[in-house]
Amino acid sequence: MQTEVIQTTSQQEAGTRKGAEIIRNGGLVAFPTETVYGLGANGFDQDAVLSIFEAKGRPADNPLILHICKKNEVRKIWRRIPENAMILMDTFWPGPLTIILQKTDLVPDAVTAGLDTVAVRMPSDKTARSLIAKSGVPIAAPSANLSGRPSPTTAEHVLQDMNGRIPLILDGGPCRYGVESTVLSLASRTPMILRPGAMTKEMLESVIGPVDVAESILNPMKEGEVAASPGMKYKHYAPSAEVIVVVGHPRAAADKILELYAEAEADGKNVQIAATEETKRYYSNRNFAVLGERKHPETMCAALFQTLRELDSSADLILAEGIPPEEFGLAYMNRLLRAAGFHIVYA
Ligand code: TXA
Ligand code: MG
Repeated sequence: MQTEVIQTTSQQEAGTRKGAEIIRNGGLVAFPTETVYGLGANGFDQDAVLSIFEAKGRPADNPLILHICKKNEVRKIWRRIPENAMILMDTFWPGPLTIILQKTDLVPDAVTAGLDTVAVRMPSDKTARSLIAKSGVPIAAPSANLSGRPSPTTAEHVLQDMNGRIPLILDGGPCRYGVESTVLSLASRTPMILRPGAMTKEMLESVIGPVDVAESILNPMKEGEVAASPGMKYKHYAPSAEVIVVVGHPRAAADKILELYAEAEADGKNVQIAATEETKRYYSNRNFAVLGERKHPETMCAALFQTLRELDSSADLILAEGIPPEEFGLAYMNRLLRAAGFHIVYA
């Protein structure tokens, strides 16, 4: 299959019209969102949804998110809409917040991997909204990477993983946030964040009160534990190079990274450092890339997946700086720790 790429910055109308036609006919279209690129299909068409799992090589027990462009579409998707869901939708939609509630019978089992709850979000990206509107159905979409690879934040990343597997990629340029949406379950008694993102615990609590954070966000699952979110049990976001996360104050972290660098280099390994603005001066003459500023976790999130993909092509080992897991920094640490298989060193 030939994969066509259409720039929606210049050809928004033509691109989304063609994309919507493919979606309505049961096909797959990759499209930009404000978080990461999605791989979309008609969310009410069981066979179309199953073909997403095939194209990605995604385990069948990992459920998908339905993407909508008008808030009242949730009435077809969720059985009951509690007050706190209304408040969250009014405050944070469109935007990077996914909400989980009990599903109606209209939602095919393939979307939810057999669960009786379903995840929904309303993206803010213009191309995404136009594609959903023209398709006339909710679009089921996971991130548009091969399963286990870092999520794509540019159309080029999607092409690396999906070339020849899907007919169309809509290219809207780099994604603003660079990490996936916050996933919040309202199906449990206390709302619980299953995956952290740009809409932080603090932001959610400011409108609906106490919110729990799933323990698995910063910790590997224990043997025999049942995942609140099936996605959390898989190795994720992982480049093929080994990744080690180094945590500590800037100077201490840099010293530890230099020590690990020297050891690995002596073993003949090709090492790359993922640094921050605050520490880059310590790494002269070594291979390093700057992710962003510790003080501004959003810059770290925006660059993370792109940097992992870039360094992966030239490294056996990536030494990446950790930051405090606070506010949006929690999303950065959640993705980085998974990419590293939770290999963490404290400086
Ligand atoms: O930002 C995003 O959310 C991106 C863009 C494309 O919208 N999408 C995305 O989808 O990240 P995906 O499939 O890569 O991640 C969906 C996550 C998975 O961890 C999945 O296990 C969880 O949401 N999830 C979906 N439905 C669920 C449900 N009913 N119960 C618990 N977890 C669910
Ligand atoms: Mg994903």
